[in-house]
Amino acid sequence: MFDARYSIRTHVAGSLRSTDVGETVTLAGWVHRRRDHGGLIFIDIRDRSGLVQCVFDPDASGVAFVTAERVRPEWVVKLTGTVRPRPEGTVNSNLTTGEVEVIITSAEVLNMSETPPFEIDSAIETDETLRLKYRYIDLRRPEVLDAFLLRDRVTQRFRKSLEHRGFLEIETPILGKSTPEGARDFIVPSRMSPGEFYALPQSPQLFKQLLMVGGVERYYQIARCFRDEDLRADRQPEFTQIDIEMSFITQEDILGMMEEIMHEVMREADVDLHTPLRRLTYAEAMSRFGSDRPDLRFGMELVDVSAVFAASEFKVFAGALGGGGVIKGINAKGAGDWSRSKIDALNQVALDSGAKGLAWVAFPTEGDVRSPIAKFFTEAEMSALREAMAVEPGDLLLMIADATDVANEVLGTLRLRMADELDVPRSGFVALWVVDFPMFKWDAEEKRWSANHHPFTRPFDEHVELLQSDPGAALSYSYDLVLNGLEIGGGTLRIHEEAIQRQALAAIGIEGDDADEQFGFLLEALSLGAPPHGGIALGLDRLIMLLAGKQSIRDVIAFPKTSSGSCPLTGAPGTVSARQLREVHLRSE
Ligand code: AMO
Ligand code: AMP
Repeated sequence: MFDARYSIRTHVAGSLRSTDVGETVTLAGWVHRRRDHGGLIFIDIRDRSGLVQCVFDPDASGVAFVTAERVRPEWVVKLTGTVRPRPEGTVNSNLTTGEVEVIITSAEVLNMSETPPFEIDSAIETDETLRLKYRYIDLRRPEVLDAFLLRDRVTQRFRKSLEHRGFLEIETPILGKSTPEGARDFIVPSRMSPGEFYALPQSPQLFKQLLMVGGVERYYQIARCFRDEDLRADRQPEFTQIDIEMSFITQEDILGMMEEIMHEVMREADVDLHTPLRRLTYAEAMSRFGSDRPDLRFGMELVDVSAVFAASEFKVFAGALGGGGVIKGINAKGAGDWSRSKIDALNQVALDSGAKGLAWVAFPTEGDVRSPIAKFFTEAEMSALREAMAVEPGDLLLMIADATDVANEVLGTLRLRMADELDVPRSGFVALWVVDFPMFKWDAEEKRWSANHHPFTRPFDEHVELLQSDPGAALSYSYDLVLNGLEIGGGTLRIHEEAIQRQALAAIGIEGDDADEQFGFLLEALSLGAPPHGGIALGLDRLIMLLAGKQSIRDVIAFPKTSSGSCPLTGAPGTVSARQLREVHLRSE
């Protein structure tokens, strides 16, 4: 609500209605549009709340009329006048203030403006780099600002929901020690300790765990995180998490509470989240959707047809099965009549995602089959394939014969690609939990295990032994929140015993003195009465992006970086003076 006590205005432009007729009002804002009708001048004055039409009539005020003659778009003005109904036939039903106008008796120019680099008018498309260079102009567009109004509401709702449940908001350091979240650190040289560096936090992970050791029990923070990784539409080098940690809880407690909170939060965007959310284990998500963040707004599930081809003569299929692999496929309904060149493009997608090839069978019409490999299939195999994949005329089957992981991943990519190509309807919001991630994944380049989530994640109680004997088989108490095919949050129960934490670090090659050097402070804290605890972090930018229906998280960050990591507005990153470098004991090459 607008509070006129602390402003040079009495009202905001977008609030005026026919109930205000007769009121004398003082408005302040920007000249949105000016129309000179000879004897009368009309100016739409715009502020954050919207706009209202103001009328300048020499009979009402000659001085104000002269001012109106010289103002230009985006000048900043203060206007006083009387609200009156618009004359018959001039009511604008597209405008919330469209029933009224303000007849101006006094006008003051607060500031002039050069011609803006692009027009504010919403319908006009502008190059994104130019928009970001002049973000403060861009923000004057209602549909740009709208995302920030939503972001504000959602953030406030998180605060209220968490505060209501006894969470304390506590800040943690920005200048810190590296926390391994799997990305590269941004580092900051220290002036006072020559040759030493701080790392900006990839997340407050270790500090929030230390807060649990400190007896805080329920912590949250709207935390800025910094990760030096390649940028995509859903990634920024600095982004915001709703970061949460709790003590004395089970995984069920966290999931249940988060479902309640997400329900409350999403109502701010008029979305009714259906709870309890569906759950898939990581293994099931990979097997059925080829992704650990499956988009469940459509089907096209992966089908294992290995059994159909158990005795296949086709050497590619026989070879894959003989090598312990699988044959899996998806049924792309509606692509049965695709041309050879369109299918060749899919073949390339498959190759690029790691497959050795793409096997396809098209069923353009009843009784018609097109395929370069169907000649290797027996009649029995063909009919078993049709049945396994519920084939109808118009279908295109895409199959991959390979190791299970490869087949899943490639088909997961093809599934999304085909949904795009075929315009498969994907409306609404569908969320799920993906749970039970493996503790570790194999890093083929470094030839060692690395943490799947982070190395503070708790293995299943019955899998603690596997940390040493078979790390790849150990599963963890872990959960990702997925919305419409995007990972919008992730968390785990944590290891709270020093000995198990040492084993988990050892499994990823951090042992003995190394462990003490890097994580001594954590190991020590775990030995000094750490309670069982766990938590989650939600990617606020991604959540708002989805709720606001935007394609990029840049649209929900006030001053985002471009994909090359630079800020078009300020020019960051930039060079610094030789003196600044000397002060922090650095030399530039
Ligand atoms: P994680 O690394 O999964 O977990 O991050 C949590 C959520 O943050 C969002 N996110 C990003 N958003 C925008 N740009 C990025 N570069 C980016 N990277 C991540 C995602 C993701 O789900 N400390 C753990 C949480 C925990 O265990 O409690 C963590 O940071 O939506
Ligand atoms: P080839 O006999 O190698 O010429 O392969 C015949 C067909 O099988 C081609 O259309 C290939 O794209 C396809 N193909 C080859 N390898 C695989 C594989 N691993 N999985 C699925 N299809 C494959």
